Amino acid sequence: MHHSAYGYWLLTRYNDVAAALRDPRLSSDWARKRPVDPTAQDDFSHAQRVIFQSFNMKDPPTHTRLRKLIQQAFTRAAVDEQRGRVDALVDDLLDAGAAKGALDLVTELAFPLTITIASEMIGIPSAERDRFRASFEDTERLGDPTASAEQRRAGQDALVWQLGVIGDVVDARRADPRDDLVTALVQAEESGETLTRDEILAALLTLYTAAGTTTERMISSGMLLLLRHREQWDELVADPDRLVNGAITEILRFHHPNQQTTTNRFTLEDVDVSGVTIPSGSTVRVALGAANRDPARWDDPERFDITRPEVVSLGFGQGIHFCIGAPLARMQAAATVRRIAERFPAVWLATGEVRHDPRRMDRYERVLVELA
Ligand code: HEM
Repeated sequence: MHHSAYGYWLLTRYNDVAAALRDPRLSSDWARKRPVDPTAQDDFSHAQRVIFQSFNMKDPPTHTRLRKLIQQAFTRAAVDEQRGRVDALVDDLLDAGAAKGALDLVTELAFPLTITIASEMIGIPSAERDRFRASFEDTERLGDPTASAEQRRAGQDALVWQLGVIGDVVDARRADPRDDLVTALVQAEESGETLTRDEILAALLTLYTAAGTTTERMISSGMLLLLRHREQWDELVADPDRLVNGAITEILRFHHPNQQTTTNRFTLEDVDVSGVTIPSGSTVRVALGAANRDPARWDDPERFDITRPEVVSLGFGQGIHFCIGAPLARMQAAATVRRIAERFPAVWLATGEVRHDPRRMDRYERVLVELA
């Protein structure tokens, strides 16, 4: 536990992190701490007010009401229905790689797979997908205190544009309903006034961001880990039914898609954590990746081991904000690993072809493999 010179509190122990995520005195509702000026009428201020309506940035009872509606689209049964689509996409991408003999796991497999599933989920038209995905490079800068004025402006423009695209999808579904998530949310809004238009836009953008980027990183960094622990890959290839799920669990524990960052809360009152009082109104940064390697919780935490006895990792969080897309993320990652194991058991890493994202050492830009 660390009180930073920048003013926030950082929690890294498993028990402190798990307790913080379950503690109702730690709020996710940032609009309560830093309200957006309600009188500002420019496009970005409006977009910010919309974003603050997202259910992941709400506390109960608003969070409970919104999450219940959205949860219906993410039951295990609903996810199982997408399994065929995911398998088909993975196979197509692997076919393209096989034709060349090599495949970049980031740009030619994990990215196109997860972006397609995420875009289809919230109805982003295929023509906009690449630009939509690229615009996250810009919006990511909005939370970066070192961003230049120009980068901040690009981030603001990107957010306004993203909400415009999603707004068009919502309007299209209102005019022409389909059997999909957006239509379900629009109809919930129309029938009971339980969901406002801004709440729908914010929820869809959150789902898209969460679904696209994290799962992509879990798949590429996970395959890299498996190939760097060759004996474990060979074991998995020999018995995927027994080992795939454990492999996904261990990948998430060992290398979180946001290993270097935290999920954040702020205290609604003084809160005692392991004997230290965190004053009311403090920002608390919760380091899931660190907690997942806490030696007090795991034996030999720095060892990657897909046969580890099942333990509850904090990779998908805990408590009321537990990841709504966990079954979908796990299914996509497991399907990908399984298909590679079945079709290309002798896959190997191309020498020198692993490249980190220069801005983030926990992310990869390129992981090239040769397909036998
Ligand atoms: C490997 C992939 C993923 C990881 C590691 C991950 C991780 C997480 C974590 C740690 C949280 C809790 C954050 C907190 O308590 O502040 C969370 C929440 C959330 N995740 Fe995921 N996620 C993944 C994939 C997905 C997918 C595929 C979706 C959507 C389809 C998704 C949608 C969400 C949403 C909407 C929330 C907020 C839930 C709430 O506040 O009630 N995530 N995720």
